[in-house]
Amino acid sequence: MAQQITYDKAYDAVAPEDFPAMLEVPRYGRRSDAFDSIISATHDHFWDPLDKSYIDFDRPFDLATQSLVPLDMIVELRSAVADRLDERQKIQLANDVMHWSISNLLHGEQGALSLSASLCHILLDPGAQEYAANQAREEARHVAGFTRYITKRWGEPLPVGKTIATVLQDLVSTPEVYKKIVGMQMLIEGLAMGSFATLNARTNDPVLRRLVQLVMSDEAFHHRFGRLWAAKTIRHLNEEEHRKVEDWSAQIFQMLLFNLINAEQKQVIYAKYGLDWQWVRDAVKESFSDNDRREQLKETNNIFRVLIKTLLHAGIITQRTAPLYAVWVDMDELKAEGEGIPGDVVAEEMMVVLREINAKRKRIVSKDVAVAA
Ligand SMILES: [Fe+2]
Ligand SMILES: [Fe+2]
Repeated sequence: MAQQITYDKAYDAVAPEDFPAMLEVPRYGRRSDAFDSIISATHDHFWDPLDKSYIDFDRPFDLATQSLVPLDMIVELRSAVADRLDERQKIQLANDVMHWSISNLLHGEQGALSLSASLCHILLDPGAQEYAANQAREEARHVAGFTRYITKRWGEPLPVGKTIATVLQDLVSTPEVYKKIVGMQMLIEGLAMGSFATLNARTNDPVLRRLVQLVMSDEAFHHRFGRLWAAKTIRHLNEEEHRKVEDWSAQIFQMLLFNLINAEQKQVIYAKYGLDWQWVRDAVKESFSDNDRREQLKETNNIFRVLIKTLLHAGIITQRTAPLYAVWVDMDELKAEGEGIPGDVVAEEMMVVLREINAKRKRIVSKDVAVAA
């Protein structure tokens, strides 16, 4: 039996197989209005990966001569690996690494889709359930969008990395609501927002930039759902419960920090260049010190900075685990920065664009209906 930690009725949950609980008559009338504004906003930021008025996947990009992101973003190329490759190979390796990263963003989107669907099976509140169903719908269009992008650029996605596969499996299968919400809505969504914000700022491919902007306009709401949960839950936790949530979060954070992009998972790529993955791992280790990592975590869009910030502002981190994060970032500085996360601004701007496209579409549709009548 799952040990649920819920303090707000909106997050009450049952076991995934307890469908009869959903049919109990009084349940329908007990709908929280906490998520109504997020649910209603969905029409505002509607977009369709199959419709060229939102995104045109046919715009070409020559992967053989141009790299999707500046070469300095590729950790391998900042190590001795660079000395073993000519200029053309460097571009190719960079694009292969991006193929791997974007494939894993796709797997992450699938995780988010499966997770939100799993929330529909356990959340009792009809409002919370509608929110989760709506998120599942939005994640499904992210899966469609990234699949289409990968198909156009490379043909097929690469297999999922071991680290992200393990975390996603854990989150999708756990019946515990707090793990799902902290793990997916706060950590994975935060990580995704950081990655999308980085790609938006730095990619050379306008199609990829547009795709991440569209996705961000949805993700900003998903991250907000996580923060809403935290605001209604964390301060009510007793000591033992807080410890449980805090320790679990720290464990996931560390696992992601040290393993998310490790060389072992990318060995399929290195083999193409005659590079042994263990050699690449050591070369990267040698050139990427703890100090470099600390420097990277100073950048606003850095995914791990976003994660720490999310946990800190949610009140999950206490004096007990703060030192663990303080090794990497200045916690006081993070506290002073406020709750917003990178990508929020891009998401806001995209909302304006989407409102315009959607209004135009509505005008066309109503004209057609009038003509037909
Ligand atoms: Fe998503
Ligand atoms: Fe999401």
